[in-house]
Amino acid sequence: LTDKSKQTKLEKQLEEIKIAFTYGEIIGIPTETVYGLAADARNSEAINKIFSAKGRPGDNPLIIHIHDISQLEDFTAALDERVIKLMEVFWPGPISFILPLTGDYLSSNAVAELDSVAVRMPSHPVGRKILQYADIPLAAPSANISGKPSPTNAQHVIDDLEDRLYGVVDSESAIYGIESTVLDCTQFPYRIARPGAVTKEQLEEVLESVVDTVNDQMDKPISPGMKYKHYAPSQPLIVIEGGINNNTKLPVERTQKVGIIAPETSREFIGEDIQFISLCRDRDSYKEAARNLYSALRVMDTSDVDIIFIHGFDKVPESAGLMNRIYKATGNEVIQGG
Ligand code: TXA
Ligand code: MG
Repeated sequence: LTDKSKQTKLEKQLEEIKIAFTYGEIIGIPTETVYGLAADARNSEAINKIFSAKGRPGDNPLIIHIHDISQLEDFTAALDERVIKLMEVFWPGPISFILPLTGDYLSSNAVAELDSVAVRMPSHPVGRKILQYADIPLAAPSANISGKPSPTNAQHVIDDLEDRLYGVVDSESAIYGIESTVLDCTQFPYRIARPGAVTKEQLEEVLESVVDTVNDQMDKPISPGMKYKHYAPSQPLIVIEGGINNNTKLPVERTQKVGIIAPETSREFIGEDIQFISLCRDRDSYKEAARNLYSALRVMDTSDVDIIFIHGFDKVPESAGLMNRIYKATGNEVIQGG
C-alpha cells in the first residue's frame, strides 16, 4: 500500500467504528494499559450490552474515556487546580481520576448510579485516534469476562468475547499490561483507589502533598470493583513470598501437575516436570513483569496444570500495581519461599 491508500484505509475504519458507536455497538479497543470494551457512554442500551457481555455486576461503574479535557464540561463541575495539574502531567496516560459527576449527560448505568465518575485519557496512538475521530465519551472497562485476567492483546479479547461484540481493533500489545491507577479526587487528600503504573510517589511529587491509599480489605471499598475476585485463572494460584530458591517446598500432592510463573532467574531452581513461564528477566523487572502478567495467567488457565505458583516481588513503590494484581488473582494465598 502507498502511504496515501493506507491513510484512506485507516480513515474508512475510523468511520466504520464511529458509525457502529452511533448504533450502540460495543467494540474492543487498544489502550496502553489493557484492551477496553468500549461504547457510547451516553447510550444506556449500549452500556447494558457491556455489562451483559462481561457478566459484570451492575453496581461496578465504568471508566469514561476522553481525548480532550474540554469534554469534561459536559459531565463534571469546574476542576480543582490540583486535578488540572495532575492531568497536565499524566495525561494522556495510565491514570484515571474520580471526579464529582454533574447532570444526566452520561448514562446513569455507566456510572452505576453514583454521584462521581472515573475519567481517563489514554495515550495509545490507535485508541486515541478512535476517541478523537468518534469525538464522544467512551465508557470502557477491561475487555475480559468479569473475574478473568484482563486482555493485553486483541486475541485475548476474541478468546473471551468473540461473539458478544461488534469487533476488536487489532493493534500492538498493551505496553503497561495492568489497568490504570485510579485516583479518587472527590476529597482531599486524594486517595489511590487502585494502584497502577503511575505511583503514589509520582503523584506526591506533583501535588507536593501526601496521597493516601485505600485499604481494599475494608468492608466498604470506595472503588466498587475492588470487592470482587479478579484476574484469576481457574486453578488455585499461590504467591511465593520472597521467590523460589533451593529450600522452597511447594505444598503439592504427587499427582498434581504444577505451573510456576516467575522471573527468568528462578528457572535454575525449577524441575523439568514443572510448567514454567518466564515473566521477566530479573526480580526487579517490575514493568516487564506487569506487561506479561495477564498473558501468563491466561496461558496457565488454558493449560493442564492443576495448581499454579507465582513469584512474590519485593514490596517497593514501583511494584505496588503489579503486586496488587497478583494478590487479587491469588485471593491472598501465600507461602514463604524459604
Ligand atoms: O486501564 C484501565 O483503567 C482500563 C482501560 C480499558 O482503560 N479500564 C479498566 O476499567 O480497568 P474497569 O472497568 O475494568 O475498572 C474500573 C475500576 C473499577 O475498579 C471500578 O470500581 C472503579 O474503576 N471505578 C469506576 N468509577 C468509579 C467511581 N465513580 N468511584 C469509585 N470507583 C470507580
Ligand atoms: Mg476490569
